[in-house]
Amino acid sequence: MKHLIDIHDLSVEEIDSLIKTANDIIAHPDRYSEKCRGKKLASLFFEPSTRTRLSFEAAMYELGGNVLGFSEAMSSSAAKGESVADTAKTVSCYADIIAMRHPKEGAPMVAAMNASVPVINAGDGGHNHPTQTLADLLTIHREKGGLGNITIGFCGDLMFGRTVHSLISALSRYPGVKTVLISPVELKLPSYVKKDILAKNGIPYVQTTDLDEVISSLDILYMTRVQRERFFSEEEYLRLKDSYILTPEKLKNARSDLSVMHPLPRVNEISVAIDDDPRACYFKQVLNGKYMRMALILDLLGL
Ligand code: CP
Repeated sequence: MKHLIDIHDLSVEEIDSLIKTANDIIAHPDRYSEKCRGKKLASLFFEPSTRTRLSFEAAMYELGGNVLGFSEAMSSSAAKGESVADTAKTVSCYADIIAMRHPKEGAPMVAAMNASVPVINAGDGGHNHPTQTLADLLTIHREKGGLGNITIGFCGDLMFGRTVHSLISALSRYPGVKTVLISPVELKLPSYVKKDILAKNGIPYVQTTDLDEVISSLDILYMTRVQRERFFSEEEYLRLKDSYILTPEKLKNARSDLSVMHPLPRVNEISVAIDDDPRACYFKQVLNGKYMRMALILDLLGL
């Protein structure tokens, strides 16, 4: 039985296959509308979500299946002290596949060790978010025609941004990837990601605090939100939250074929004036996330 806890649970070949399936779903949605008839997805969200939860639910409905679950810990028996392990064993009695978001790093892994159905990590604390990475990879593939030979800038909260950690990890397996790490000093990419992923795989990186200095060198600019929920001090969050705000003025120096990505939700880091710019890809990412989750559900269920 397969689970998806970390993006490295998927080989490069498996990611290629998911991208191929997602593109086929986009081209021929009717061929997939009955694939999950009679199957149920349990959507266990112990932490807030709009895109991930609703796109998993939309994905399962568009495959002809059904969905059950909860959208906050307080409406589950976790509020009475039930463990993640017991929750996973219980939900395995009701559903064919589980998508779990949890504020604690490693919780979906514990669920996978105890469930008798496939478990998908839908985001665990500041750790990983592999299905956002699948959405990001499909977006890069569709915008750039492949996943190698790109210069990608990650901008904002690189310390707590789990989508950044997962995407860097995924891209480290493709040739010709260069990374530019743009963040305040306090929110730099954790050293374990630099050492264990970038350095280990020979991925060149530049670190800077200045977006203007590097924007013209980028094929992709991956903006991120400063993660308020992971800060210990509200004062520190308020000081750092508007470190980077992408405006039409700043984009003047960028390439005409730049792709601006963001996992969303956005707070203040991309001006809404950019939404109609052809370089803005973040709402395409949202839609691509649904297609990749459809492809993933089919793969994990062996359909
Ligand atoms: N990108 C993302 O994970 O969004 P949600 O928190 O709304 O699911």
